[in-house]
Amino acid sequence: MGELEGRVAIITGGASGIGAATTRLFVENGARVVVADLQRELGNALAAELAPNVIFERTDVSTNRTSRPRCRAPRRRSGDSIACSTTRGSVAP
Ligand SMILES: NC(=O)c1ccc[n+]([C@@H]2O[C@H](COP(=O)([O-])OP(=O)(O)OC[C@H]3O[C@@H](n4cnc5c(N)ncnc54)[C@H](O)[C@@H]3O)[C@@H](O)[C@H]2O)c1
Repeated sequence: MGELEGRVAIITGGASGIGAATTRLFVENGARVVVADLQRELGNALAAELAPNVIFERTDVSTNRTSRPRCRAPRRRSGDSIACSTTRGSVAP
């Protein structure tokens, strides 16, 4: 069992670079990940590759209007604890 089994992580800037590498590492360790990023194409491709453990939510973390709901929704849905990794911008869960 992975160290992050049963955890849901939200990784902002998760569609490329350090965020995508973090997403892969979290999934390898048992987490389910919400990738929150501006880039639809890359985010959807990563989610397809790592399905069903990754979903992509197109998000601009520079505005609370889109980032706050992205953080709250998975917690409400799953009841799981949330780990948040921010590789771009910040979020206010
Ligand atoms: N790569 C390195 O070696 C390195 C070293 C030190 C620091 N950093 C810093 O780490 C951060 C990430 O670096 P990276 O190489 O992974 O960059 P990257 O450009 O590959 O990834 C950044 C991701 O953030 C997303 N993003 C940008 N603005 C966003 C927004 N408003 N809302 C949601 N998503 C947004 C982009 O679409 C992209 O997918 C940067 O701030 C960089 O300066 C990188």
